[in-house]
Amino acid sequence: MFVRNCWYVAGWDYEFTRGELHARTIINEPLVLYRKREGTLVALENRCVHRLAALSLGCLEGDDLRCMYHGFKYAPDGQCVEVPGQKFVPPKARVRSLPVIEQHSWAWVWMGDPALADPSLIPPAVGLGDPQWVLKSGFLDYEANYQLINDNLTDLSHLSYTHRNSFLAGPNWINTQPTVTPLARGVRVERWIEDDPKPSYLPSYAGGTVDQWTGYDFLLPGIFLLRTAIYPSGTAATAGDSLPTDPLWETFTSQAVTPMTAATSRYFFSWGPAAVHGSEKDAEVMFQVALMAFHEDKTVIEAQQKIMNADPSRRILATRADHASITFERLTHKLINAEDSNKGVKNLETV
Ligand code: FES
Ligand SMILES: [Fe+2]
Repeated sequence: MFVRNCWYVAGWDYEFTRGELHARTIINEPLVLYRKREGTLVALENRCVHRLAALSLGCLEGDDLRCMYHGFKYAPDGQCVEVPGQKFVPPKARVRSLPVIEQHSWAWVWMGDPALADPSLIPPAVGLGDPQWVLKSGFLDYEANYQLINDNLTDLSHLSYTHRNSFLAGPNWINTQPTVTPLARGVRVERWIEDDPKPSYLPSYAGGTVDQWTGYDFLLPGIFLLRTAIYPSGTAATAGDSLPTDPLWETFTSQAVTPMTAATSRYFFSWGPAAVHGSEKDAEVMFQVALMAFHEDKTVIEAQQKIMNADPSRRILATRADHASITFERLTHKLINAEDSNKGVKNLETV
């Protein structure tokens, strides 16, 4: 159901305030995150070994975490170091400790085999402090399976319909075929959108329509990294293979889809203009447009999920526009199957 050997976004780094315990669920696994006194993050299984109480209801004692049901105390590596009422601490009294790294303003947790937790596999998102961009950030929770959100992000043809009010997207999003390139851990989608209505957030440009170049990578487990460069209409026709270096406006968005359970997901996003083009105020205007658009997606996808739940036997009817979505979905399923068969091998070895 989920790829395990991946870095999942557990939250924005600013969510994890010092001195507090933060409960999160990722791919059905209850986690508790907290900061050690020197600031680094710890991610532990949120389930006391004693009677399976939530450790997130416990309290911090220095860098250790005490369960506030009967008082078992855990070190940051997950080992239980104290069992109140007895001297003996069973060595197997240990909760799982997960690799966690803060990068690009996100806290990434490795949900699979810790021995495979390679930091170089963290996708190259853009952090909120990057001087090249002016970014605003947030998140939304979905009552939907992560795959439906992945499908939505890998196929932006829906902009022509779902986002005609927010992004003022014209018909070219559905009428233009992007270039789709499979990547080792995702898919790349690039295209020119010519003569689209001028976005509402583009200040002071006199023309009514623009040409937009958009390029994004959608990477495991569900990381969407999109750069948009906006030019006067007519630019695409003469651009050739190289992108002109003088756009009217450029934007970047980093987004992450994190499955909480099979039926719920958390969607993280940042968006804003290049610092050379837009101010904080412009970024705020853009962000309000994005919030409207993301709620448009949420309305469509949650209703879609309910209809799919009502009759799970129904199958989709794919079109040309689904190419990138299907490419990514196949990659995801291939990895899930590979991980499942590896598990089978390990189980056999154990037997
Ligand atoms: S459930 Fe945690 S100490 Fe009893
Ligand atoms: Fe959308």
